[in-house]
Amino acid sequence: MKLDVVLGLQWGDEGKGKVVDYLAEGYQIIARFQGGPNAGHSIHFDGKKYVLRSVPSGVFRKDTTNIIGGGVVLDPVTFREECEAIEEAGVPLKERLYVSKKAHLILPTHRIIDAAQEAAKGKSKIGSTLKGIGPTYTDKISRVGLRVGDTLAANFKERFDKLKNQHLAYLKQFDFEFNAQEHEAEWMDAVEYLKSFKLIDGEYFANDCLDHNRKILAEGAQGSMLDIDYGSYPFVTSSNTICPGACVGLGIAPGRVGRVWGIFKAYCTRVGSGPFPTELFDETGEKLRKNGFEFGAVTGRPRRCGWLDLVALKYAIMLNGVTDLIMMKADVMDDFDTIKIATGYIVDGEPCDIFPFDTQADIQPVYKEFKGWHNTLGEARSEADFPQEFKDYIKFIEEQVRVPVRIISVGPDREQTIIRG
Ligand code: GDP
Ligand code: IMO
Ligand code: MG
Repeated sequence: MKLDVVLGLQWGDEGKGKVVDYLAEGYQIIARFQGGPNAGHSIHFDGKKYVLRSVPSGVFRKDTTNIIGGGVVLDPVTFREECEAIEEAGVPLKERLYVSKKAHLILPTHRIIDAAQEAAKGKSKIGSTLKGIGPTYTDKISRVGLRVGDTLAANFKERFDKLKNQHLAYLKQFDFEFNAQEHEAEWMDAVEYLKSFKLIDGEYFANDCLDHNRKILAEGAQGSMLDIDYGSYPFVTSSNTICPGACVGLGIAPGRVGRVWGIFKAYCTRVGSGPFPTELFDETGEKLRKNGFEFGAVTGRPRRCGWLDLVALKYAIMLNGVTDLIMMKADVMDDFDTIKIATGYIVDGEPCDIFPFDTQADIQPVYKEFKGWHNTLGEARSEADFPQEFKDYIKFIEEQVRVPVRIISVGPDREQTIIRG
């Protein structure tokens, strides 16, 4: 059996939570492979909404096993809060969720370092979610991090203190006020809670599942344009959000990857700083934000909004080897007279069809205009219900990117999902 992957193709918040929850019915295992509680994946069903941070979006399906893979960074405190809310909703979480011993732990001081570093950057700040993601991955790469499996060691507290003291020494260079003790007791309690879950050797578990014909769906966090290597560096997150990240984060060989589902919104959003060529600063951008409820699921920050960008989308499709596309949230533009898609750029005065290296470059999008569909897409239940203008919009995208759009989401609910033939 192969490993299928679901990935965001833009700057995050494409609707991964909704899609993974939907697709989970066809899989036995759902696995997060990177990122951490910087993610906020929303799921709507039976009139209720849940926002998942570190827990995979398959937990609401009774026959799935969910794993937090070794590539994830886990904050025991947010993990506990999240799990308790899910358990309150009646989900027997401990039966459905396993955690890899290789996932790295976010310490309270990682969050403080995140905040101190961002404050020191002033105007050039990344716009981090301040969950300690960057500093935790930094420690992982520096080979000093603590992992979930380390919590089982007799000298765990000693190792925690050692790392904490290194952090405190590092923090001395910042003019930044903090209280390092404030969250420590709560964090240690949350570590005990984490230990009540099944802690696994995730890479053996995942490969064994594939060997026994159990289907795995890997759930990406963030989006391809936030990838540490190929995103709009330095305005990125600190992990590989693209498809190879699933192999590394789960311990699965590249040859075992099957379908790569790429998710994109019918327009674009971005939270935090960094280049966004099709961003709209006018009332149309405001309308996208209002109609699409484009406010961060984690931080509540207003998301920057703009038109669909085919240069960036083609780049993401290339990086990930996307086999199937999923288009989200076209219903947000139901009452638009005109809809635009960027098909190229003028960069520093020259035509350009690649995403530029230089984040300071002057990027002007070249647009193609489409007639709005003036319809209520949210009520559509099959492709036959789509107005012609919307069909034309989809056809144009497919012709440009040369990958089929297999699923179209027309609202936040599970029911508002259309599979194309
Ligand atoms: P994720 O991080 O990729 O899981 O996405 P988020 O949950 O952060 O943001 C997506 C938002 O759009 C959530 O509020 C979803 O409930 C909502 N959503 C998902 N699909 C659709 C859709 O097709 N139409 C509309 N209107 N909202 C959607
Ligand atoms: P999901 O999984 C949107 C953005 C932050 C910031 C940058 C770095 O819900 O799509 P970090 O906290 O990782 O150091 O922040 O990345 N960012 C996201 N934007 N969706 C996310 O996750 C994000 N996770 C991080 O806003 O610009
Ligand atoms: Mg999100």
